Amino acid sequence: MSLTQIRDPLCPGPAPKTTVQTLHDKKRGRQPITALTAYDYPTARLVDEAGIDIVLVGDSLGMAVLGYENTLPVTVEEMLHHVRAVRRGVHSAFLVADMPYGSHHVSTEDTLRSAVRFMKEGGVAAVKIEGGSRRVDLVARLTEEEIPVVGHIGLTPQSLHRMSGYRVQGKSVAQMDALTADAIALQGAGAVALVLEGMPRELAARITREIDIPTIGIGAGPDCDGQILVFHDLFNLTFAPKTKFVRRFGDAGELFRTGLEAYRNAVESGDFPNDGESYHLSREVSAELCDTIAGAKGKG
Ligand code: KIV
Repeated sequence: MSLTQIRDPLCPGPAPKTTVQTLHDKKRGRQPITALTAYDYPTARLVDEAGIDIVLVGDSLGMAVLGYENTLPVTVEEMLHHVRAVRRGVHSAFLVADMPYGSHHVSTEDTLRSAVRFMKEGGVAAVKIEGGSRRVDLVARLTEEEIPVVGHIGLTPQSLHRMSGYRVQGKSVAQMDALTADAIALQGAGAVALVLEGMPRELAARITREIDIPTIGIGAGPDCDGQILVFHDLFNLTFAPKTKFVRRFGDAGELFRTGLEAYRNAVESGDFPNDGESYHLSREVSAELCDTIAGAKGKG
């Protein structure tokens, strides 16, 4: 346990908060960092209460819960709507919001405005920005304005069209060198952590060794300082085929399908709701009703 997680037993307060310092201590102490996405209040609570270190409101929500084909259409307003819900469910984890496509591409002022909204309206501890060396000035500027930034390099889904699809990056020596240089440059600009996505294990291990800030891998092998997955992938709540780097830790999709079929059958057969699942009149009101009916019949 790091110093930032120790609570004074004489002063019980809210659960210890995971901070940048906690994450850096974990890297130094070679303690693996856990991270997951969450897009709504109930999943945020479940993930937070499970003791996961980082909760990311990723722009993957575009595909996972909004039904878009990719992350490109996701807007700042859509992100903020979900970030606020997640914020209400997170008490301990380090909360990060993705800057969606378009929110950090037009100008530094525009980027700052959106990032400040994530901090003030969304209550996040950091924002995540996709891209390597060409984001260095932006990361430095946000850092200057007290906005911690998590970098994201390798397979960056917002570069879908430039990459001609979701392709593993860094497979040649030249690309390995370029991505390692990106990581070092982002660290130099003040990034507090780096997501390494879709790259050979050997490259992720090299970057993790070369920089002091934590690396959080997704499809980047086991040698990163931490791992992140999309919540819906973990529990088979997607409609896409499983990718190589995803492991399913439960089958909520099957659980829901079975439950939904049982519900439909119960309603259609008249089994639901039964008497025990219904509200009843009090004895007094029932008696009064009987008297009224009996009186009416007597007069008739
Ligand atoms: O959008 C997202 O969920 C992400 C993670 C997969 C790293 O960027």
